[in-house]
Amino acid sequence: MTTSTRHPLAPLDGDDINAARTIVLDSGRVTIPREDVRFAYMGLCDPPKALVHAHDRGEDVVVDRRVRAVLLQGPEATVVEAIVSVTRGIVDSWVEVTDVRPNLQFEEAMKVIAALRADPDWNAALERRGIVDTSLVQIDPWPAGAFGSHHEKNRRITKALAYLRDSPDDNGYARPLEGLMAYVDMGRGTVLEVVDIGVVPFPPQGGSYYPEDNGPLRTDLRPLAIAQPEGVSFTVDGNLLSWQKWSLRVGMDPLEGLVLHTVGYDDGGSVRPLLFRASVSEMVVPYGDPGPMHSWKNAFDAGEWGLGRMANSLTLGCDCLGEITYFDDVFSDERGHAHTRPNAICIHEEDYGILWKHVDMTSGRTEVRRSRRLVVSSIATVGNYEYGFYWYFYLDGSLQFEVKLTGIMSTMGVADGVGDAHASMVAPGLAAPYHQHLFNVRLDVEVDGTDNAVFEVDTLRSPLGDDNPWGNAFAPVATLLETELEARRGVDPLRSRSWKITNRSKVNAVGQPTAYKLVPTSTPTLLADPTSNVGRRATFAAHNLWVTPFAEDERRAAGDYPNQHSGGAGLPAWTAQDRSIVDTDIVLWHSFGVTHIPRPEDWPVMPVEYTGFSLLPVGFFDRNPALDVPPTSDGEGHCHGA
Ligand code: CO
Repeated sequence: MTTSTRHPLAPLDGDDINAARTIVLDSGRVTIPREDVRFAYMGLCDPPKALVHAHDRGEDVVVDRRVRAVLLQGPEATVVEAIVSVTRGIVDSWVEVTDVRPNLQFEEAMKVIAALRADPDWNAALERRGIVDTSLVQIDPWPAGAFGSHHEKNRRITKALAYLRDSPDDNGYARPLEGLMAYVDMGRGTVLEVVDIGVVPFPPQGGSYYPEDNGPLRTDLRPLAIAQPEGVSFTVDGNLLSWQKWSLRVGMDPLEGLVLHTVGYDDGGSVRPLLFRASVSEMVVPYGDPGPMHSWKNAFDAGEWGLGRMANSLTLGCDCLGEITYFDDVFSDERGHAHTRPNAICIHEEDYGILWKHVDMTSGRTEVRRSRRLVVSSIATVGNYEYGFYWYFYLDGSLQFEVKLTGIMSTMGVADGVGDAHASMVAPGLAAPYHQHLFNVRLDVEVDGTDNAVFEVDTLRSPLGDDNPWGNAFAPVATLLETELEARRGVDPLRSRSWKITNRSKVNAVGQPTAYKLVPTSTPTLLADPTSNVGRRATFAAHNLWVTPFAEDERRAAGDYPNQHSGGAGLPAWTAQDRSIVDTDIVLWHSFGVTHIPRPEDWPVMPVEYTGFSLLPVGFFDRNPALDVPPTSDGEGHCHGA
């Protein structure tokens, strides 16, 4: 039994998951032998906001722990969405949804690889490429998209690509089997069609990034150790993390990866809310090469694979340095059994240079404070790529989200050694198509309370005139975004554009509504044509900002089932209603990322590239909230005083 003493936002534990599985299988509703039912997704069904708030005010509330499960009962494009109460031991809701595909299944992906290895057409294509040891062929099942092929209809399919390794742990991406791909029915594990559009010679060089192949190694890097002899400055209670004046709950969703709940800031003894929930709602990697091998590649790595399902177990001193606290991730496998992924979430503090400083020129008195940040992070490996997700909390009330992109690029073999207009040569005979990595973060905001409004703030040159005789004047101009269609916005670095999230029922010491602002980077939007396949499926990435009124079932920017979806789901559909977003419970959806024109320096493994955004207080506090940070007391330096 699940006790009601656990916080309503406590992550699912093994008992919850195993209980949910048993309730589903014993419900009398499954239509196939119970051992054949697959659990494509199992995650916490978030409790109502009002209940969470009542619980956090110390009121006595009854917590009904519910699990959302997406079930597969066969090879067709049909799922069951089940809501299960593990508190009450019953199925609350059971809905069959047709013509959708959940995230790709790992077990099915393994069957795809086995089916291709046994397929005569596939093996004939390997023979045409002179491959003797076929066990060294690496097969990558890709999400196939939606292109109207007859293979797609009522099937869960993959399109498989292949690479040749020199040895079992070699980097196969150095030698693509260019020209070869295969459609495979994932649900049935059967090869539908092997497509071979022609042999391209293998690039001459390998792509090892291992130290034994890249010597001599540098010998002049001395140890750099992070020591916190008195321990860390944060505390952990269940999934509640408290650091300095911040408090938040940390969880992990199978698809979204890291999830933050109830982020608040203690200001004079009471916690002022900021975010009810924040997560990566979707991401897409659209490729910009128009050729038949690469034009269909558009990976929705959250909705098609799952950033939590792909999360790494992190290693001390490698992924995170210093005094580290880890949270494990308890998750369901595809048969509904609970497992633990150790060390899935890393929590630590980092020195971050100076926080503020001034030297009084008259007296010579100096005051300097050190900045530090609390880091909550996880890393997902999705096929060839790695994505590190980092939430940073600072001493001055600001916070930041950063994605670190690394791993190995998706490659193509080039016969003439020159390549084409939509790919960079990265090694002899080897190119990497241009592509983008576009993320959407869903920010369920509650700045000083539930009801908020968003202003777009541009800083503009003021017109010349009697009140601007010298022409030097400029000022921020704030425009209230009133409806969903008005709030489809893009970045504008030339105008220092930001989006201010205000609570117009609260004012600061100078009479302004309290607010935080979303500060974007100079980020691109989706470059694919809006009418293209990926343009219709990843419309969330066509605008940098979307704002919606909160709705319980609006969670994923490209809809719940982007895999093989024909498009239009998620943000474009919801915001077409053009609902009001003024002084109500609202959600901001920020799309950002990078356009990746590959460099030779990105090969064979990419140095980290960064993207993200910040949330800064703007009139939320009455003055610099970090005046009470004490001078550093250790060491020989003079951080403070004359
Ligand atoms: Co890239």
